[in-house]
Amino acid sequence: VTDPPAGAGRLLIRDLDQLATPVGGGAPLRGGELGAVDVVDASYVLCNDGRIEAVGRMRDLDRLEGDAEELDGRGLCAIPGLVDCHTHACFAGDRVEEFSLRAAGASYEELHAAGGGILATVNATRAAGADGLRDAVRRHRGWMLRAGTTTFEAKSGYGLDRDTELASLRAIRDEGGIATWLGAHAVPPEFDDADAYLDFALTEVLPEAAKIAEAADVFLERGAFDAEQARRYLLACRDAGLRPRLHGDQFTESGAIPLAVELGARSVDHLEATRDGGVSALAASDVAAVLLPASALFLDRSMPPARALVDAGAVVVLATDFNPGSAFCESLPLVCALACTQLHLSPAEALSASTVNAAHVLGRSGRKGQLAPGYDADVVLLDAPDWRYLAYHLGGDVVAEVIQDGRRVWRR
Ligand code: NIG
Ligand code: FE
Repeated sequence: VTDPPAGAGRLLIRDLDQLATPVGGGAPLRGGELGAVDVVDASYVLCNDGRIEAVGRMRDLDRLEGDAEELDGRGLCAIPGLVDCHTHACFAGDRVEEFSLRAAGASYEELHAAGGGILATVNATRAAGADGLRDAVRRHRGWMLRAGTTTFEAKSGYGLDRDTELASLRAIRDEGGIATWLGAHAVPPEFDDADAYLDFALTEVLPEAAKIAEAADVFLERGAFDAEQARRYLLACRDAGLRPRLHGDQFTESGAIPLAVELGARSVDHLEATRDGGVSALAASDVAAVLLPASALFLDRSMPPARALVDAGAVVVLATDFNPGSAFCESLPLVCALACTQLHLSPAEALSASTVNAAHVLGRSGRKGQLAPGYDADVVLLDAPDWRYLAYHLGGDVVAEVIQDGRRVWRR
């Protein structure tokens, strides 16, 4: 990752094979609108001062007044910068040993119950220090950028003490991420029970966390926090100005969807265990369904009911869930491939779900996730003759160049 040069002037990306951008009547896109992608052959994108000034067909490009840097787009396709609205990018250490144990048959939940899993990463993260955490987020953010992610959310949740939670949130924010306080990820070993831990987190950590984070998240699952505890945590966080989000229905249906609807949560994420009742409840609400197929794949779990959610009219979103335990994967192009092959979404639906709808989850609608005048000039150039290679080239090296805020920040 190169440091962006000071000041983003004018950049003309010309002679693109194609550009593809979600359209629709306004974010978030639901139902049939999710697949409403505009594709323009032989096209250009003009960026000016960090924003998109114009997009269109080469033959309609007027002669430009004044200077512009030109980027030759022949052989390339442009899509909006990808938006990853669910990551756990602030962690130290790894879980490769656990990965090997799982490969030999151990289950994720057993490892967690035995004090491994999330708590193993908590030990490593507590030992890293503020500088170590900043270095970790910078490194992970570089991986994401090379995969085409220009906007990322990241959660705390591997500190679970005051200093490490706050240092995590600061590291995320200072490295350009949108921070979510996952204060209720697991019960740390120094507390006897979840309620005692929540008493501490809500009195000692929330007031400062609310100044740095934009959202709050809770792991609602057997072995983590139950619905009553999640309600108490999210209500306090909502009162402090944080948008409520939940990890729900990952292994069991434990009441996450009714709670999300009751609280007006921004999203409920995972949903691998969600059945018909949950699908209809989400479809009738404004709560976004954030699907994480890389996590389902990594843990060999069933895939979430994506097709049913889209067809019922729910707000469907895709994200990586990048973390060391359940999804060591920072690639949204790979997630789009899984969306098409495992979730039965079309490439167009996958594109909208990982751009415009993800921007909605992060409160960035109208600024991120589309190639349209006035939007932030975040553009991914694919090394492909057709933009659908985004999902088609499974695990491929599909990103040729990344433009962020009108600056050429990474090139293959
Ligand atoms: O989204 N399920 C809870 N949290 C993360 C995994 C965290 C970990 O295993 O380190 C998830 O899958
Ligand atoms: Fe997660």
